[in-house]
Amino acid sequence: MNIFVIGGGGREYAIIKKLKENHIVENIYCAPGNGGINKYATCLDISATDIYKQLEFIKNNQIDYIIVTPDDPLALGAVDIFEKEGYLCFGPNQKAARIESSKAFAKDLMKKYNIPTAKYEVFTDFNIASSYIDNNEGPYVLKADGLALGKGVLITQDKKEAKDILKAMLEEKIFGEAGKKVVIEEYLEGPEVSVLCFTDGKDIKPMISSMDHKRIGDNDTGLNTGGMGVIAPNPFYNQEIENRCLEEIIKPTIEAMNKEGCPFKGCLYFGLMITKDGPKVIEYNSRFGDPETQAVLELMESDLLEVMMACSKEELKDTEVIFSNDYACFVVAASKGYPDKYEKGFLINIDKEIEDDVIIAGAILKDNELYTSGGRVLGVLGRANTLDKAIEKAYQNIKKVNFEGMYYRKDIGQKGLKG
Ligand code: AMP
Ligand code: GLY
Repeated sequence: MNIFVIGGGGREYAIIKKLKENHIVENIYCAPGNGGINKYATCLDISATDIYKQLEFIKNNQIDYIIVTPDDPLALGAVDIFEKEGYLCFGPNQKAARIESSKAFAKDLMKKYNIPTAKYEVFTDFNIASSYIDNNEGPYVLKADGLALGKGVLITQDKKEAKDILKAMLEEKIFGEAGKKVVIEEYLEGPEVSVLCFTDGKDIKPMISSMDHKRIGDNDTGLNTGGMGVIAPNPFYNQEIENRCLEEIIKPTIEAMNKEGCPFKGCLYFGLMITKDGPKVIEYNSRFGDPETQAVLELMESDLLEVMMACSKEELKDTEVIFSNDYACFVVAASKGYPDKYEKGFLINIDKEIEDDVIIAGAILKDNELYTSGGRVLGVLGRANTLDKAIEKAYQNIKKVNFEGMYYRKDIGQKGLKG
């Protein structure tokens, strides 16, 4: 079987590595991939959003299955385009992908179907949004409606800062179309949990829970990033919380999408906050999370390709999705300066003995050597039968990797240990 994967980060590395465990897989092509993915797949010089160029390659290379992972090609309707040509795909179509690509759509859906989330209002006019700030107490949570590379959320106590960012989004259009509408939300507090789920639009099978660490600095300080580390499972997601999430959030979301005429097929990501009033949705993603996937797939025992194809063929009901009882910890190594400006092009050294625990995210291959090419360069896994041992293992492993300016958080998993 020949598979075409769209994307090129650590998440895609983890997915492709896992797919390779199935022996019916012959070739995997990845657009654009990265220097590390080269080990498992043929990387193509085609960007993740160049859908028509991808289609041309797919038609010429006997592709049997297409996996679309990043948010932007999903929002552009990649799955609709490929399905129209008769291809079997993993991922939601454009209408279903709105659950991530439009925060206003997602919030309205939750309101209509009584799915617990922060209270909110949607604004398109700066003056109206500004008077909302005047008349309400902070903290203010401001979110651009569309996809903004994870940068579209601002949380502030300060009225002036809130108004400045509203002006920048609504009038100066710093996020372009994505910021034409802004959602202002109630501020929630509590531990965060990520739950990635396989769904075929009818049935839904959650993967093991996880905890992302979004801030750049230890103890959750500094700027937001694409994610600096993960633990799985998430200790705050106990049986009681899990049952509530299933009944109050996860199943109702699948039903709501069906009732709206846009059944969701693929991986639906629930970003949850466990507040004192119960679990609430912070965000939906229409895809696998990055870096959650890197830890979650490490613990998946079922065959990934079989489960994905069961989603595509609407046969998930009869497919087992099994996870190990182990714990995984994944620590990201970033370039100095990230998430602001950083330099690239540094040689990456990885000890042979831990190669299997390293997931490459932002690197290129040159003369058989890897060089840094992104902000988040790679990540290192630790796995064990307890969380503290998994954390210890990940931190032992990361000492066996280096590149100039390598930065990583020293506290991944510590919050989880308190759970
Ligand atoms: P999002 O892109 O929607 O996931 O938001 C990024 C991060 O901002 C989340 O992971 C939370 O830590 C935080 N956040 C988002 N919405 C809220 C909220 N309503 N209250 C408190 N924190 C929030
Ligand atoms: N880890 C959060 C995301 O993938 O958006």
